[in-house]
Amino acid sequence: MPAAVVTGASSGIGLELARLFAADRYDLFLVARNETALRHLAEDLSGRHGIRVWPVVADLSRPEGPAAVAAAVASAGSEMTALINNAGFGLLGRFVDTPLERDLEMIQVNVSALTDLTRRFLPGMVARRRGMILNVASTAGFQPGPLMSVYYATKAYVVSFSLALSVELEGTGVTSTVLCPGPTRTAFHAAAGMKGTRMERLAMEAEPVARAGYHAMLRGRKMVTPGTLNKLLAVGTRAVPRTWAARVAKRRQEKRNK
Ligand SMILES: NC(=O)c1ccc[n+]([C@@H]2O[C@H](COP(=O)([O-])OP(=O)(O)OC[C@H]3O[C@@H](n4cnc5c(N)ncnc54)[C@H](OP(=O)(O)O)[C@@H]3O)[C@@H](O)[C@H]2O)c1
Repeated sequence: MPAAVVTGASSGIGLELARLFAADRYDLFLVARNETALRHLAEDLSGRHGIRVWPVVADLSRPEGPAAVAAAVASAGSEMTALINNAGFGLLGRFVDTPLERDLEMIQVNVSALTDLTRRFLPGMVARRRGMILNVASTAGFQPGPLMSVYYATKAYVVSFSLALSVELEGTGVTSTVLCPGPTRTAFHAAAGMKGTRMERLAMEAEPVARAGYHAMLRGRKMVTPGTLNKLLAVGTRAVPRTWAARVAKRRQEKRNK
């Protein structure tokens, strides 16, 4: 059986990605902090699809989080076919006001844990000439984002890192895909302290976003932005000066400020 690690599987896009892997009969290591949610999902998916599912309770904002994930995989004796770096969160507010500790935790989850897990699982994939990495970035990675400056910067890292990796890996049998969702209906906005705006009516559901990422990963595509509007915004953002794009992003975030 092929096996996959999915981080941030307790809700939203990660939960939908876990369902897609399960339907294709992958054994799964589901990573998050919410043990109850992980156990329920593990029971549901293993019962429904006859796969083995390990809930891995790990806090990826702690530097030791990725090692705990690798240890869980090693003790199960599994070889990883797919690594899904999806766990992440944002924080709304001016950088001068947001708690530094929380911003550093965000960098740890969105950037450092993603990089650490990739480095842990990649050598085995390259040696076996088989593997897929799917990193979840955001359309936020395409421009600077005042009032969410650290979040946007973490996602710019994920886009740049994943694309560079995808080119490095050409010819190895291993692929790297970066998924860049726009606004998606999940627990993300409440966790980031954002209020709903009229823009949220245009938000996508988590399932089609996950499906777009999953199929792009299976095809070995380097990058995917789900949704026509998000694709257009991505092109538009590249066509204007970066400070203009940053001002537009600021206006958008001001509307979301509670
Ligand atoms: N929703 C959007 O509009 C949107 C748009 C673009 C990109 N994204 C990206 O999509 C990814 C998934 O987010 P989502 O929208 O599905 O939001 P979500 O429903 O809030 O899910 C976030 C997931 O990340 C996990 N997570 C957060 N902090 C963690 C930590 N310290 N250790 C381990 N796991 C942690 C959460 O699990 P626990 O809380 O159980 O730990 C949860 O499973 C994120 O990388 C996000 O930046 C979201």
